Order: sequence, then structure tokens, then C-alpha cells
Amino acid sequence: MITLKTVQETREITESWIKQGLKIGFVPTMGCLHDGHVSLIKRARSENDKVVVSIFVNPIQFGPNEDFERYPRDLGRDCLICEKTEADLVFAPSVDEMFPCHNLAFVDIKELGDYLCGAKRPGHFRGVCTIVSKFFNIIRPDRAYFGEKDFQQLAIIQQMTLGLSFSTQIVACPTVRESDGLALSSRNSYLSDVERRAARVIPKSLDLARNALAGGERDATTLKNIIIQKVATEPLAMVDYIEVVDATLLKPIPRIDRPAIVAVAVFIGETRLIDHFLIEEGF
Ligand code: PAJ
Repeated sequence: MITLKTVQETREITESWIKQGLKIGFVPTMGCLHDGHVSLIKRARSENDKVVVSIFVNPIQFGPNEDFERYPRDLGRDCLICEKTEADLVFAPSVDEMFPCHNLAFVDIKELGDYLCGAKRPGHFRGVCTIVSKFFNIIRPDRAYFGEKDFQQLAIIQQMTLGLSFSTQIVACPTVRESDGLALSSRNSYLSDVERRAARVIPKSLDLARNALAGGERDATTLKNIIIQKVATEPLAMVDYIEVVDATLLKPIPRIDRPAIVAVAVFIGETRLIDHFLIEEGF
């Protein structure tokens, strides 16, 4: 496995692969890799000739009061994981390498970013779309792999790819969870033992809403209240948002009468975690 830090070297090697007719699978990450990331790399490995993983904590997708500075970084450990998962190339540029002056061009999308994390984190998805576009231009992957865990990010990247005519195919990968249901996230590493136990309330509250749904409940406010009440039983947890949205437009809906997503963002102490479930049928 090769590890590169410069745009030029990365461009040269991926260009040579393209000239040889090799298919490139790309997994963009911010590092602190866990089994969720590994599942994306393995999927890319099984579907492509070459696998590129980027490891870059992207400053332009963090708000001024967010955790850019303290975001966990351990390139040595991440490279070992990539090597074990049989990636061919890790691209781990510095901030200066990706943004040599200050960034003068941005990629933005319309509408899908108006609610959920888009509303709570202004500029976040613009930062994500900009960095992913830059990576697509440098690496020119045939396929890029994104987790369904960040379903709004996935939808926005799909919209961007279509809207800007990128030739990269976007591949959606299922959420990997701990045995107690908590979705894996690099931010879980912020949690103390007590907070980690408290975080169980997130998947548990979603389970309760799912059960109510199975019992025939269709009203969005009722479903949201079920989640609110469950989260309120955990003193370390505080709701940031709970939304029931149309699964395609990602806009709030009052009743489940079409494919929908029940999505939450919850603070456990200082750590903000997101989760959701998809309702595809039965309305
Ligand atoms: P990061 O949070 O490191 O996630 C990288 C990829 O791993 C994303 O596609 C994310 O959805 C996926 N992922 C995270 N947790 C997962 C889980 N539990 N199961 C399955 N997949 C999971 O998302 C980003 O980085 C950044 O925004 C990025 C796209 C790299 C742009 O900077």
C-alpha cells in the first residue's frame, strides 16, 4: 500500500491506473477509522481493481464552534487498518496541500440541505460537497462509497454528482452498529464510559418509534414525542433535532404516507451523535 500526501503524486498514480483501464473505487473519510469505514473499504475492494482511501479532516465542513481542532487524528493506526483491508493507496494531504491559498471556489447544492443537519450546521454540506468534488477531480474514481448512516450527506452527494455530471457512481453502504445498536462513529471516541452507556438511549428511542409504527402509528408528532420522552429519561442526553422527513426530498412531513426517514441528532454530554431509520413500505 502506498501513502501519499501530495495532490500531484496522487493524480499521477491514479491517472496511470486509468490509462491501464483499471477501475478505481474511492472511500473518502476523515480518519479515526472504525468498522463502518472498514465495511466501505471492503465493498470497494470487492468491486474495483484499485482502492483509494482519503484521510483528511476537512476544516471547511466544521462550524466555528465545532470540533475541528479536537477531532481525533491517528494516521499511523488508520494506515494499518487500510493496509489490512487491502487498500492500494491512502491519500492523506495536509490542509495547506488541499487549500494552498484560502479556498476561492465552493460547490453547493439546493434544497436537500435545508433541514436536519443542514439547518443545524450552516455551511457544513457546502464544505462536504467542495472537498468531495476536489477529491473526485484529483482521483477520478469510477465508484465512490458513502455510508447510509449519514443519509443526508449521501443524498446531497448523489444530487451533486448528478447535477454536476460527475462520472463517478455513488455506492450507498449500510450502517454498521455496535452490539447494543449504537451506530459506529468516529465521535463515539469522545464518550466517557458513562456517556457511552447513556448513548444507548439513541437506538432504543428509535426502536420505540419503530414499534409504534409497526403497531399502526402514522402521525409524525406522536412518533417524535415517543422519541423525545425516551431521550428525556437519560439525564446525559439532550435532543438537537428529531424530524420525520420525506425520504427523497428530506422535508418534514406530518404523516407517514410515503417513504420516510425518522432522523435524530442527540447530544450525549458535549458529543453530538446522529441516527435514523428508513420507512420504505407499509403506509
Ligand atoms: P467520516 O465521518 O469519516 O465518514 C466517512 C464515510 O464513512 C462516510 O461515507 C460515512 O457515512 C461512513 N460511515 C461513518 N460511520 C459509518 C457506519 N457506522 N456505518 C457505515 N458507514 C459509516 O463523512 C465524512 O467522513 C466526511 O463528511 C467526508 C465524506 C469524508 C468529507 O469530508
